[in-house]
Amino acid sequence: MARPFLLVALLCASLTFITTCVALHLELTHVDAKEGCTVGERLRRATERTRRRRLASSSMAGGVTAPVHWAGTSSPQYIAEYLIGEPPQRAEAIIDTGSNLIWTQCSTCHLSRVTSCFPQNFPLYDPSLSSTARAVACSDAACALGSETQPCNNTSSSSSNNTPCVVLTSYGAGEIAGVLGTETFTFGSSNEVSPLAFGCIAATKLTPGSLNNASGLIGLGRGKLSLVSQLGATNFSYCLTPYLSDATVNTSHLFVGSPAGPMGEAPVTSVPFVESPSDDPFNTFYFLPLTGISVGQVKLDVPTAAFDLRQVSPGMWAGTFIDSGSPFTSLVDVAYQALRSELARQLGASVIVPLPNDADVESELCVASGDASLVPPLVLHFGGGGDAVVPPENYWAPVDTDTACMVVYSSGGPNTTLPSNETTVIGNYMQQNTHLLYDLANGVLSFQPADCSSM
Ligand SMILES: *[C@@H]1O[C@H](CO)[C@@H](O)[C@H](O)[C@H]1NC(C)=O
Ligand SMILES: *[C@@H]1O[C@H](CO)[C@@H](O)[C@H](O)[C@H]1NC(C)=O
Ligand SMILES: *[C@@H]1O[C@H](CO)[C@@H](O)[C@H](O)[C@H]1NC(C)=O
Ligand SMILES: *[C@@H]1O[C@H](CO)[C@@H](O)[C@H](O)[C@H]1NC(C)=O
Ligand SMILES: *[C@@H]1O[C@H](CO)[C@@H](O)[C@H](O)[C@H]1NC(C)=O
Ligand SMILES: *[C@@H]1O[C@H](CO)[C@@H](O)[C@H](O)[C@H]1NC(C)=O
Ligand SMILES: *[C@@H]1O[C@H](CO)[C@@H](O)[C@H](O)[C@H]1NC(C)=O
Repeated sequence: MARPFLLVALLCASLTFITTCVALHLELTHVDAKEGCTVGERLRRATERTRRRRLASSSMAGGVTAPVHWAGTSSPQYIAEYLIGEPPQRAEAIIDTGSNLIWTQCSTCHLSRVTSCFPQNFPLYDPSLSSTARAVACSDAACALGSETQPCNNTSSSSSNNTPCVVLTSYGAGEIAGVLGTETFTFGSSNEVSPLAFGCIAATKLTPGSLNNASGLIGLGRGKLSLVSQLGATNFSYCLTPYLSDATVNTSHLFVGSPAGPMGEAPVTSVPFVESPSDDPFNTFYFLPLTGISVGQVKLDVPTAAFDLRQVSPGMWAGTFIDSGSPFTSLVDVAYQALRSELARQLGASVIVPLPNDADVESELCVASGDASLVPPLVLHFGGGGDAVVPPENYWAPVDTDTACMVVYSSGGPNTTLPSNETTVIGNYMQQNTHLLYDLANGVLSFQPADCSSM
């Protein structure tokens, strides 16, 4: 186990359900770094997650309408430790901008006969041992805040005050069920606490391994039950240290409500968010106006419409969004094919067939390590004129000592269906060493190349 995470919380409002004037600082560690995995092992695991995510999202016939957010694969990248209850109990969460709910597996898991919960590093949170645990009734306003919860079917029933607020929600990785409660959350060494509504989860049916021994999730999406929304924060920022450096030594940082200022001299680029559709769960995501991609100096011949937010069937939307919970970037197939062939053209004779051993990274484009310096940067072009330069190390990875491969994938493929197969997701490998500020008050994403370990 790595050294404990530090979470610093500063609260300047009273302990009301929705607080304003709050600033949280969370330290995050990449889950594989915690376990001391080698570079090759980390890549294999991340690729496995991306692969499982595609399978998961395609196999949920009629179930999950979300394209890809947190799923067996897009899962556990960066996790934070926190304390819940009084006296405090330890818990760990995966940080996910692609979902909303804050949840942790509860001691009630033991009562469930149908399904069970997954193993986790810390003991299950037990609300009966906490003086601050409160149940939320189905008639409470908090129960009507998100699609993750089920309010009473009607309020005339005299029993609704005692009927718990049911939590039932699905991800690409599977489903969770439990009840909504409120608790005090303590972030790090600070004694300041935040009262938050959260899912006390009694049953999880998830892709094995998707929790990576964490006890739950902290959602940072646009929905009302996310950490950001509950705190009334108008912004958050994070800076992810590279996968392949020792992220246990150099932890990543997430700031909610008090973003870090600009880091260093690198220019800051701002891109307006595309307004999310109101349909659930697409209202959760942070959509971006991607208009095109260049490989080095060459602009790919891909119609802008391939990236646009658009309704693909009633209630179903495709587009481009940014996700802290997905490992690798997935492009709509037309863009992926154009990217692959242009890179192959530019790299020419340097392109090699990966060794069978490396097959599990599933990359279609590799070069010998010695030729990795030939890989050109990508440029993501956004509406409004903002460009994001993606250095080779943010979309290309050493799969072993001899070989480096592209780690951008197609969101299409034989088993993927709408809307996943028409959606582009900017994963967190592409976000490494970038300081990203989600300015929700102004509807703008600002980013800047940065050395995240110096934060
Ligand atoms: C409301 O009704 C639906 C459908 O009949 C049911 O599945 C759900 O559990 C009910 N909710 C509550 C809080 O009783
Ligand atoms: C509301 O609750 C009452 C009392 O439990 C019940 O008789 C009635 O059928 C319920 N109505 C709906 C629409 O569920
Ligand atoms: C989870 O914990 C088990 C037992 O402690 C350990 O063997 C396993 O490697 C861990 N897995 C992950 C993904 O962290
Ligand atoms: C941690 O960050 C420092 C400062 O940026 C850097 O010099 C060092 O190499 C990093 N350590 C690891 C293990 O990546
Ligand atoms: C972020 O939010 C806090 C609290 O709402 C506010 O004081 C601060 O000015 C905001 N910062 C930016 C850069 O938007
Ligand atoms: C697609 O699904 C079929 C049937 O479930 C399976 O055999 C096949 O391996 C899948 N293909 C891919 C590329 O995942
Ligand atoms: C996505 O999947 C749907 C349904 O399976 C299919 O009709 C559509 O052609 C696919 N789109 C692409 C771009 O592959």
